[in-house]
Amino acid sequence: MKATLFIVEDDVNSIELMKEIFAEQGYDLRCFSSPLAALDALSREGLPDLILTDLMMPEMDGIELLTRLRQISSQLPVIVMTAYGSIETAVEALKKGASDYITKPLSFEELMLTVSTTLELSHLRRRLEGLSLDKRRRFKPAALTGEHELMKKVRDQLVKVAQAETTCVLLRGESGTGKNLAARIIHYNSPLARGPFVELNCAAVPANLLESELFGYSKGAFTGAVSDKQGIIEQADGGTLFLDEIGEMPLEIQSKMLNFLESRQMRRLGGLKVREVNTRLITASNHDLEAAVDGGSFRRDLFFRINVVHCQLPPLRELGLDVLIIAGKFVDEFNRQFNKHVGGISPQAEQVLLAHDWPGNVRELRNVVERAMLFCVGKRLEAEDIQLSAKAGGGKSLPGEFRIPAEGLDWQEHERAVLSQALARCGNNRTKAARLLSMSRDTFIYRLKKFGLD
Ligand SMILES: Nc1ncnc2c1ncn2[C@@H]1O[C@H](COP(=O)(O)OP(=O)(O)OP(=O)(O)O)[C@@H](O)[C@H]1O
Ligand SMILES: [Mg+2]
Repeated sequence: MKATLFIVEDDVNSIELMKEIFAEQGYDLRCFSSPLAALDALSREGLPDLILTDLMMPEMDGIELLTRLRQISSQLPVIVMTAYGSIETAVEALKKGASDYITKPLSFEELMLTVSTTLELSHLRRRLEGLSLDKRRRFKPAALTGEHELMKKVRDQLVKVAQAETTCVLLRGESGTGKNLAARIIHYNSPLARGPFVELNCAAVPANLLESELFGYSKGAFTGAVSDKQGIIEQADGGTLFLDEIGEMPLEIQSKMLNFLESRQMRRLGGLKVREVNTRLITASNHDLEAAVDGGSFRRDLFFRINVVHCQLPPLRELGLDVLIIAGKFVDEFNRQFNKHVGGISPQAEQVLLAHDWPGNVRELRNVVERAMLFCVGKRLEAEDIQLSAKAGGGKSLPGEFRIPAEGLDWQEHERAVLSQALARCGNNRTKAARLLSMSRDTFIYRLKKFGLD
């Protein structure tokens, strides 16, 4: 779409020149010989993408126009044009909120460059703000669904610690209980919400790389360090650093981490410069950290440091009827995603959900509902639609020859590889490929789409 520019300028010659320049570059241009006419058009037609205004005009000067514009919008990019030699007015305009200034006589290159970079910046800023607004909506405390007292208590806690922006928080709970979700809720409801949310899973990074991931390095710190690299601690400056599976952090790195937490200062590997970093640390673990402390694999002092506030996410099997509330939420979610109109869960299906013990907690429930929604053809989810994973000891077990490597694996990458291999082996015949992986054709195609392989 063409960018709309308003030009406010009482000098006819300048107007003619700019009309020529901007029309050629494909801008949508509106010219006004007085600020009042521009303000009038603005109130009728809405905001343009950018305003370019002269500073010296008879009925209202550019500074006053700028002040009025800022009352209407704090974001609208405004560039002022000042006569060569009147730098003071340009400075005053910048103080009053102008995005930039150009000196007269106008140079074609300067004009184009200033306008295009200002537009680009404002576009980026809008996208960033849109992003964080959207996130703030997605991660409001109610995203952690449930009416059980335990759940309410967790939500209250999250809201409270969110406000205390320097407090370290340790999130605990079994796998799939919502620790990652809780970390985002804290960040996006805190005064740091506009800052970055940076996440690292300590179990997913090989131990020998973890230190440089966290602290970064300077050029030449080791073979392969061909340029400076910022670590994620620095990236989290002004925001939140979320370290998942903190129990997996090797001891040497634990002491560096403790140093950083106490001093709020760090150095990149091989670097001399001491850097001050202000970030809130949230950690998570689904292991028994106290046992790790007693066993000597986790530093006691670090444990106390990260455990200023601790928040326990309850397992789903202890949440009673919340299973149905959360399942209902997932039904809505997948209705939107699959474009379906499933009206709810039948009483029989509810019984099935309530009777299960959910070793994989909410993550498992989400997967079960997702699968059920794919197969559901009726108006409600029926008991037959619900396929629970076999409990330990029963059903089909994992193929014995597959072993998760010690350093862990990227599940998404593996799933993607398995899907493409199956397709290749079956000459791109999806029905056969689905059968090869013991899935229905629908599930197979859905997963292909998910990975953009369709
Ligand atoms: N109370 C809840 N309400 C709604 N959705 C939830 C709730 N708890 C968890 N979820 C969802 O369940 C899924 C798993 O949650 P999450 O990844 O936060 O778990 P986790 O505790 O970090 O698990 P792990 O220890 O395996 O990393 C996510 O899709 C999350 O959004
Ligand atoms: Mg997690």
